[in-house]
Amino acid sequence: MSLPKRVLVLGGANGMLGRAVVTALASAGVAAVAASSEDVDYFDADDLADYLDELDEDGAEKGLGAVDCIVNAVAYTQVDKAEDQPEEAYKLNASMPALVGVVALERQLRLVHYSTDFVFDGKKGAPYLPTDDTNPLSVYGASKLAGEQALLALEVPGLLILRTAWLFGPGKMNFVRRILELAAERKELKVVADQFGSPTCTTDLARMTVELLDANATGLLHAVNSGEASWHQLASEAVRLAELDCRVLPIPTSGYPTRAVRPANSALDMADTLRLLRHPPRHWREALAEYVASFPTI
Ligand SMILES: NC(=O)c1ccc[n+]([C@@H]2O[C@H](COP(=O)([O-])OP(=O)(O)OC[C@H]3O[C@@H](n4cnc5c(N)ncnc54)[C@H](OP(=O)(O)O)[C@@H]3O)[C@@H](O)[C@H]2O)c1
Repeated sequence: MSLPKRVLVLGGANGMLGRAVVTALASAGVAAVAASSEDVDYFDADDLADYLDELDEDGAEKGLGAVDCIVNAVAYTQVDKAEDQPEEAYKLNASMPALVGVVALERQLRLVHYSTDFVFDGKKGAPYLPTDDTNPLSVYGASKLAGEQALLALEVPGLLILRTAWLFGPGKMNFVRRILELAAERKELKVVADQFGSPTCTTDLARMTVELLDANATGLLHAVNSGEASWHQLASEAVRLAELDCRVLPIPTSGYPTRAVRPANSALDMADTLRLLRHPPRHWREALAEYVASFPTI
């Protein structure tokens, strides 16, 4: 078992998941550097290498040691907008992770990268295994798959790719937060009831990431809370927990057309990951209750 000593978290300053990862690392006693695109140019390998050199010099002076791990929590996550901005989506979701992978390989750093359930087409009818065939339905899903493939092809020894899904958590707009804001203003909301997935809390995913690093996990794994839900079930539970006076009505996907096509059932199987975790993740309902209870301070 070995936790890294000093971790550079790209997207750790402003990203929804990145911020949670910085907090989880700090709680585990790991020095974490929360970086944003203002600190380092994500698309320039030389700039990233210079930034790491600076951090290592600073770490040596302060007795913190050198950076021995990068967590990449940067991504283009606007699923619908990506349909009209494929170049931007591929730049962030495929080229950028490949560049970080090259730097990690050169410097022999461990690397954690996140991917998505949207690499699948949702037609399996059962939770997806990490080894199942991929078939993304959207530019976002295809660009994230390209990022996975680019990283795996580099054969970075300490590479861990975690596919996650349907994130909610403090610090940034997300599906649950949007629903609660709308439910506070309206008497009725219509939410898609025929798309199913694995809702996941960023703080739980961040804790899982730290545990998996400690377990020296590598390769491609799934990392989500336990339980599955439709968007309608997730929204209904959030509104119920918040005690808002709003009816959440189920509608089919056809009743809420979106620019990007989403998988009908992209729940992720966790069996491989559970074998490596000391603390299995809790049910999404429990994580959601904690998140909703923290409103409006989030
Ligand atoms: N959100 C979800 O529901 C979901 C579901 C499945 C998988 N994931 C994956 O989980 C990881 C973390 O997602 P997240 O929701 O925490 O990400 P996020 O908060 O939306 O974005 C993370 C960071 O990426 C950078 N970024 C985002 N859009 C950008 C753009 N258009 N141009 C330049 N930089 C941009 C920003 O970095 P700076 O602040 O440093 O500029 C941002 O803070 C990603 O790999 C994502 O694909 C997310």
